[in-house]
Amino acid sequence: MTSSQPPGQTVAIFGAGSDIAMAFARLRAPLGDQFVLIGRNETTLAALAADLTARGASATAVQHADFERTPDLPAVARAAWEQFGGIDVALIAYAIQPDQAAAELDPVAAERAMMTNFVSPVVLLGELARRFRMQGSGTIAAITSVAGDRGRKSNYIYGAAKGGLHRFLEGLRHGLHADGVKVVDIRPGFVATKLTAHLQRKGPLWATPDRVAKDIAKAIASGRPVLYTPWFWRVIMLIVRRLPRPLFHRTSF
Ligand SMILES: NC(=O)c1ccc[n+]([C@@H]2O[C@H](COP(=O)([O-])OP(=O)(O)OC[C@H]3O[C@@H](n4cnc5c(N)ncnc54)[C@H](OP(=O)(O)O)[C@@H]3O)[C@@H](O)[C@H]2O)c1
Repeated sequence: MTSSQPPGQTVAIFGAGSDIAMAFARLRAPLGDQFVLIGRNETTLAALAADLTARGASATAVQHADFERTPDLPAVARAAWEQFGGIDVALIAYAIQPDQAAAELDPVAAERAMMTNFVSPVVLLGELARRFRMQGSGTIAAITSVAGDRGRKSNYIYGAAKGGLHRFLEGLRHGLHADGVKVVDIRPGFVATKLTAHLQRKGPLWATPDRVAKDIAKAIASGRPVLYTPWFWRVIMLIVRRLPRPLFHRTSF
């Protein structure tokens, strides 16, 4: 956290049960922030709220939401906004990781992944953006993924949703620039969380939620437009994006 970060901000986390989001919230709590924690597992969120209070949070509130239910999202955004009379930092952290092979054969699974990982954040960000615009300040951050940088056979349904969000956030940033609202696109690589519990998580490319959360806290404090975290993913994805197609097609990742 930089010393330029104003103390005691209102931080709303959508998908606050995410391991990365919880690590971020624990970093922010000593600043005396007040938190709106939104998600579907209220037991996890209540425990997080107690932990944040013990670490210095000035106030916490837990709100229930199932982000797959897109018609509910305008009310979810309104409740979060009204909890403390505005939001300084909104972090969108929820997602599901579909089984790529299964989702290729099951249109319902593919649709669900696109709804949760793309349509839902787009609807929610739209609801938040017009409030931020009227407020004339604040930071909107969303966790996307390096998977959105190039479509790969191992995860292109998840990657397509994240790549779509990259474009959406880019446009949103352009649209909110003159209003003094920052938009931060957070692109982690491999992080050891619940989302990746089914994978072999060994090797130098894997990061902890705490490591990634530190980068996120800095990027939000500075309003950095696009964050690759850890830093080396910027280099890796530069190479992956530029790999000529004949070479790319010979890879198996
Ligand atoms: N881990 C990685 O390697 C990695 C890499 C790149 C990007 N990311 C991104 O990082 C973000 C955070 O993920 P994570 O790694 O911290 O994984 P995580 O711990 O599994 O967090 C994902 C969260 O999304 C919530 N969620 C999913 N669908 C929901 C729904 N319909 N309604 C309410 N909540 C819902 C889950 O709620 P429950 O707790 O109730 O299940 C969970 O708390 C995601 O956007 C993910 O795509 C992760």
